[in-house]
Amino acid sequence: MYSRRAFLSAAALATGGLALVTRTPRAFAQIIEDGEMPAPPTEPPSQALRTRPIPSTGQELPVIGGGTSGAYNVQIGSPEFERLKETIKIFFNGGATVFDTSPNYGNADAALGALLEDGGYRDRCFLATKIAADSREEAEAQWAGSLKTLRTDHVELLQVHNLRDWRTQLAYARELKAQGLTKYVGITHYLESGHEEMAEIMRNEPLDFIQINYSVNAPQAGQTLLPLARMKEVGVLINRAFDDGRLFAKVKDRPLPDWAPEVETTSWAQIFLKFAISHPAVTAVIPATSKPKHQADNLHAGIGPLLSAAQQQELTAAFA
Ligand SMILES: NC(=O)c1ccc[n+]([C@@H]2O[C@H](COP(=O)([O-])OP(=O)(O)OC[C@H]3O[C@@H](n4cnc5c(N)ncnc54)[C@H](OP(=O)(O)O)[C@@H]3O)[C@@H](O)[C@H]2O)c1
Repeated sequence: MYSRRAFLSAAALATGGLALVTRTPRAFAQIIEDGEMPAPPTEPPSQALRTRPIPSTGQELPVIGGGTSGAYNVQIGSPEFERLKETIKIFFNGGATVFDTSPNYGNADAALGALLEDGGYRDRCFLATKIAADSREEAEAQWAGSLKTLRTDHVELLQVHNLRDWRTQLAYARELKAQGLTKYVGITHYLESGHEEMAEIMRNEPLDFIQINYSVNAPQAGQTLLPLARMKEVGVLINRAFDDGRLFAKVKDRPLPDWAPEVETTSWAQIFLKFAISHPAVTAVIPATSKPKHQADNLHAGIGPLLSAAQQQELTAAFA
């Protein structure tokens, strides 16, 4: 159980006692008061998010980003769209910048394009999108549509979706990079079954980024693609850190680990995201959320200590 005693012993270990009370976030002070689990934060952190450099250029990115799949697939002007205005405001005010989207996420590109323009966020956004096409002609038409829908004239990262028609599409993405229409190129997948082919491509093709799944219940990449990305100096975005939300059902009545305060986490969401960014090869994790309170919660994973190897192993064993 995440108890007053567990907190105090972690606190004593981490800082040597009383000095901690003034240095810890308010949520932890609350634990000392009540001996209870705090509610996840509803405000973004006041500290700057941790950043990591993109290996091919050294450009720093905040480790917590966002994805639009599902969460941003709403009609402009709908009540859900109005709620996203608050969600995205928390995202940018909290210091996040990386947004991942795709032309095949329903209305998500249109919603994101409108939100970026209306909120004046485009210049601050590291916008990543994809090509999901089966021919050069289809890709050209899709790219033209993406720029229009996203209300922009360039993106920061263009990725080949799920390795689809990847030879043609990676060559096309590189042409667009040479024209200055995207700063970086990459490839994506979302299942461990796609990792072997991805590794093969990484060994043979220069890439700025890969985007892959990596989570407490799908940790394989930690031993395979992530070390390879480090060696090849390729940036990494992590999708499905919550296994598309399924992990939350698994922890519904489960207390946080005793060591949660030690790594300054107050929710399972923060622990799952910290698991992803604790691998040094990871540039950023891109959790999708439609809800302001979840957005604030997720951003808090971008501050404070990372998980130790033992903590990571404890999680993968618990969720295997
Ligand atoms: N092949 C590919 O290229 C590929 C494949 C998959 C994903 N992706 C990218 O990766 C992004 C993330 O992956 P994903 O969308 O599959 O799933 P995910 O980020 O693992 O999970 C999203 C789910 O978690 C919930 N959630 C988010 N924050 C939460 C919090 N703090 N507390 C409780 N629930 C929370 C969301 O619901 P609420 O809206 O209720 O918060 C949503 O149902 C996608 O949006 C997409 O950009 C790319």
